Amino acid sequence: MKEVKVRKIKNGTVIDHIVAGQALNVLRIIGIAREYPRTTVTVAMNVPSGKMGTKDIVKVEGKELKEDEVDKISLISQNATINIIRDYEVVEKKKVKMPSLLEGVLVCANPNCITHFENIKSKFIVEKETPIKLRCIYCERVMKEEDIVKQF
Ligand code: CTP
Ligand code: ZN
Repeated sequence: MKEVKVRKIKNGTVIDHIVAGQALNVLRIIGIAREYPRTTVTVAMNVPSGKMGTKDIVKVEGKELKEDEVDKISLISQNATINIIRDYEVVEKKKVKMPSLLEGVLVCANPNCITHFENIKSKFIVEKETPIKLRCIYCERVMKEEDIVKQF
């Protein structure tokens, strides 16, 4: 297997093993354009991967991810790996894990859902992982990938 040449980073996060084609959604999740306009970001798409055939990679300099960002990434890329880099070394490596209950991370797609009218945190049960299927515990509306990625 030929290794892909992408520059190593000094400090920050490498999100590896992203499902091919999902890198742009990952950038939306971490709010690159919005919150980190001056951050150096390297994106590799559709690169060969031993395990996955092809994959995407996102490297973000100087930033470590928040918990809700990791939860969102798990929804679109269940086998992604989050590598924390300090001084060029991988100091932490963890697989994302889809939670069984998603609290306050997404908004219900049903405009009549009570969560839009009362001060209630949204809650979705993960009914199916692939393809993703979430169900609002208040109104039972089902949300699929297309409803989810719209919110990123
Ligand atoms: N990486 C980086 N900059 C660094 C160190 C690592 O961009 N200073 C990247 C590597 O290119 C790789 C990822 O972070 O994409 C994980 O690095 P490493 O654990 O060294 O690679 P692997 O052993 O291949 O990872 P895995 O076992 O998770 O596939
Ligand atoms: Zn609802």
